[in-house]
Order: sequence, then C-alpha cells, then structure tokens
Amino acid sequence: MTEQSNIGRILVSEKELAVAAKQAAVQIEKWYQGNPMLLVSILNGAFIFMADVCRQVRIPYEIGFMRVRSYYDSTAPTGALEILMDLSQDIAGYDVVILEDIVDTGQTLRLVTELLASRHALSVRVITLLDKPSRRTVAYQPELALFTIPNVFVIGYGMDCAEHYRGLPYIAEYIGT
Ligand code: IMP
Ligand code: MG
Repeated sequence: MTEQSNIGRILVSEKELAVAAKQAAVQIEKWYQGNPMLLVSILNGAFIFMADVCRQVRIPYEIGFMRVRSYYDSTAPTGALEILMDLSQDIAGYDVVILEDIVDTGQTLRLVTELLASRHALSVRVITLLDKPSRRTVAYQPELALFTIPNVFVIGYGMDCAEHYRGLPYIAEYIGT
C-alpha cells in the first residue's frame, strides 16, 4: 500500500533517472581496463539503480549484492559495519564498482569501500545516484554522484520510508506527518 498523501515534490523525474543510469554506465565503461569487473549493489535501496545501469553497460561484468547496516559505535570513530548479507564471490583481482542509492552521513560507503579494498580488489569505486553532502559526519567522497540534493528525506526508485514507496518510478521528497 502506498500512501499518496506523503509523496511530496518530485526531485528527480523518470526521464532524468534514465539519463543518469546511462551516464553511470558510460563511466563504468571508461573505468574498464580489461580486468574482471564486479558491479555491487547495496541492498535494498540500490536494486532498481543496479538493474537500470547494468542493462546499459557494454563491457563484460559480473554482479554482486550486499546488505549492510552501519551504526555509531563509541569505540570506532567512523562507526561500525554489520554485514547482513555478504558478496558470494572472491573479489581479489577485480575492479569493483559499487552502485549506491544515496550517500547521507557517509558512514556506510566509507566502511564498505574499506572492507572491499581489504579483500584485495584492484580498485573500489562508488557511483551514487544521490548525494546529501550537507549531512556528512565522516570524510567520504564518492567517485561519481549523479544528483546532489538538499537535506530532505527522499523516497522512490528503490528508496523507502519504512519499506514503502520503493516502486515509485521517480524520486520524491517524503512529507512526514
Ligand atoms: P549513510 O548515512 O551515508 O551511511 O547512508 C545510509 C543509508 O541510509 C543509505 O544507503 C540509504 O539506504 C539510507 N538513506 C539515507 N538517506 C535516505 C533518504 O533520504 N531516503 C531513503 N533512504 C535514505
Ligand atoms: Mg543504501
């Protein structure tokens, strides 16, 4: 069930999302150097972005999925990472491109990129669909951010509010009650 009343202004339209997916694919093709390439989608939010991007990529690649949760931990200044579902493949010798829905505090991507680099990937790069730089609490910058947005909570195109709205074909601001 989708509550229409909580869907606010559209920040990124369907047309803009299609252009962005193509832009991400072109960047991935530019990064390709003939090494095995793995596209990693961080579930659940990035599943639609992954599906749209990978269908535009015209070099050989594999896909992988991870589900993680990052949280503040007083013993670790950058927070801690809980792996809810790990990649199923060994990534040593791969160029890895992570496809993410949104970089907010930066905690998740900072920890995930460190983790994957420690597994001897040749490179670990990140393409995020959205970036909220004003919310950053740790130093982290993705290699490519397709849209920079203000500090608002967004829904749609894979992103949720309490598991709702993931199927909206555009990205909208969530209007809380
Ligand atoms: P982080 O704060 O950069 O670690 O981001 C953690 C995760 O929070 C993101 O990958 C998203 O899944 C989620 N998130 C952050 N901001 C939003 C939002 O505005 N809408 C939906 N999910 C969000
Ligand atoms: Mg996410």
